[in-house]
Amino acid sequence: MTTSADYETDVLVVGTGPAGGGAAALLATYGVNVMVINRFAWTARTPRAHITNQRTMEVIRDLGLEEEANSLAAPQEQMGENTYCASLAGKEFGRIQTWGTHPRRKADYDLASPTKMCDLPQNLLEPVLARAAAHRGAKVRFDTEYISHSQDEDGVSVVLRDVLTDHEYTVRCQYLLGADGANSKIVGDADLPLEGVMAKSGSINIVFEADLTKYVAHRPSVLYWVIQPGSQVGGLGIGVVRMVRPWKKWLAIWGYDVEQGPPDMTDEKATEIVHNLIGDSDIPVKIDATSTWTVNETYATQLSRGRVFALGDAIHRHPPTNGLGSNTSIQDAFNLAWKLAYVIKGKAGPELLETYSTERAPVAEQIVKRANKSLGDFPPILQALGLFDAKTPDDMLKNIDALASESGEAAARRQALHDAIAGSDYVYNAHGVELNQRYDSAAVVPDGSPEEVFARDKELYHQATSRPGANVPHAWLSTPGGRVSTIDLCGKGKFTILTGVNGGKWAELAEKAGAACNIDIDVHQIGLGQHHEDPYGDFAAKMETQEDGALLVRPDLIVAWRAQAIEATSQTDLIQALEKILACGDKAAMSQKTAA
Ligand code: FDA
Repeated sequence: MTTSADYETDVLVVGTGPAGGGAAALLATYGVNVMVINRFAWTARTPRAHITNQRTMEVIRDLGLEEEANSLAAPQEQMGENTYCASLAGKEFGRIQTWGTHPRRKADYDLASPTKMCDLPQNLLEPVLARAAAHRGAKVRFDTEYISHSQDEDGVSVVLRDVLTDHEYTVRCQYLLGADGANSKIVGDADLPLEGVMAKSGSINIVFEADLTKYVAHRPSVLYWVIQPGSQVGGLGIGVVRMVRPWKKWLAIWGYDVEQGPPDMTDEKATEIVHNLIGDSDIPVKIDATSTWTVNETYATQLSRGRVFALGDAIHRHPPTNGLGSNTSIQDAFNLAWKLAYVIKGKAGPELLETYSTERAPVAEQIVKRANKSLGDFPPILQALGLFDAKTPDDMLKNIDALASESGEAAARRQALHDAIAGSDYVYNAHGVELNQRYDSAAVVPDGSPEEVFARDKELYHQATSRPGANVPHAWLSTPGGRVSTIDLCGKGKFTILTGVNGGKWAELAEKAGAACNIDIDVHQIGLGQHHEDPYGDFAAKMETQEDGALLVRPDLIVAWRAQAIEATSQTDLIQALEKILACGDKAAMSQKTAA
């Protein structure tokens, strides 16, 4: 590294949002020197993201923060009765049970993970990540703005500005992470290719306090969709009242015309919008904050350039439908952080870092397209309400009223309404979208098994598999101290081998392979008579190998390689697999590159 910089660190992360905070917390946990900055004085003020899926909770569990996160979140049980209505006090059109709360779906969620979905507002999650990062050794700096960077073969020189003093200084790092959100300057400066369009439509966020218990406690949910034909407060006539804290803190979302630009929002105007959505202007409302955002459909097709990596909204920009943004951002960080740690510590070749883009760019594209496609699930509901068949707001209201009449035509429209609401399952119960990611890269060794066939709808239903490239399947195991998940045995920065009772020899093979590759590998024998027993036989079934087979699990809980059974060649196979995954086959070249 050069010595001309004012400060040196291994990794500089720009942004303390879910992506940057997650990356900093993970890197610090892995023992990497990391600095994380935010140009504002503190983490997010507004509770934008909230739906927190099980894959994200697994990352938070891996960080040892699950209990803290759950203590701040509303539980899954309170997330269920997604309601469509004319206002909270007005007519209800219908509901859908969401986020795995329908009895028919609950088992899918319970079987998929040791964690539960929850509703964790972004402004409460971000400090948890930033605090963990700081406690674990990260340098966390607020009021610090990223200005520019230049990179050479040895590292990146980054110019930062102290917002309080206007003083500019240079940080020299091995790697720069752009977790700087949907308007990422780093993505622009690194010239990462983006596809799609920005600012398709505009939305206003209004955070407010109001006791709405009497309108919602009987149908507990995190989202209430308010459909108001001919609304008098401007906008599109569809608004959202979103629970932040049951049932007194809320976020209202209302539309604005992007052609006109963001409106000036006074407290009076905001209160008018909120009262309109509640449908009861006698309810006392205190406005906490307002802000605006746009609906985007943009993703990066390449996530890094040299030593600069981008993650989070910087590389996937999309509407909140399906609640994927913060979740995917944290999962980006989980994918990238261990790879950086291994390369920085000389345990992997720099080529490992190329797999970040190979693995996560398809995910970015998938979720941007899914979230935008989900916007299309709303028009059928409006169609069934008769809003498209009327020219004036009065006619729209008449059409809605006519829905409740006794006629064959109204019965058909009611059926269409039920069908349209049920169709929004792909927005609210897309368990497969949340959990079914599969990686195909140099950091995964295929085992020649046939292409995976999804037994049920791939977007709606999670499918567990131990096939390389998939997340290690969850199964509850019993120990003298209580139950743990297979997932708990893996991760935490290490490679792990899971095997059955007959797989005792893997411990020796792993030790030799670990020594050859300069890494630690934990080995867990699971089953009768072992410390981790498999009382239900779930692990044996989900392992999809013989009892003496093995799953090699990466630090980010992905199965990187699997062996159907112990064989004469297992030692060599394991070493070769690790060398491929870690890009460390050519030790001499690797140590040269790492030193550089
Ligand atoms: P994010 O924008 O959060 O953070 C960027 C960080 O970079 C900030 O700390 C910022 O200050 C910093 N920064 C930017 N430029 C800088 C510079 N030049 N110098 C220094 N710092 C700089 N997602 C989800 O998973 N579930 C959900 O339920 C929802 N719901 C939801 C509702 C609404 C209304 C919205 C608008 C969005 C959501 N989301 C969501 C999406 C979620 O909010 C979004 O995906 C995440 O905030 C993205 O996290 P990032 O960390 O990538 O960026």
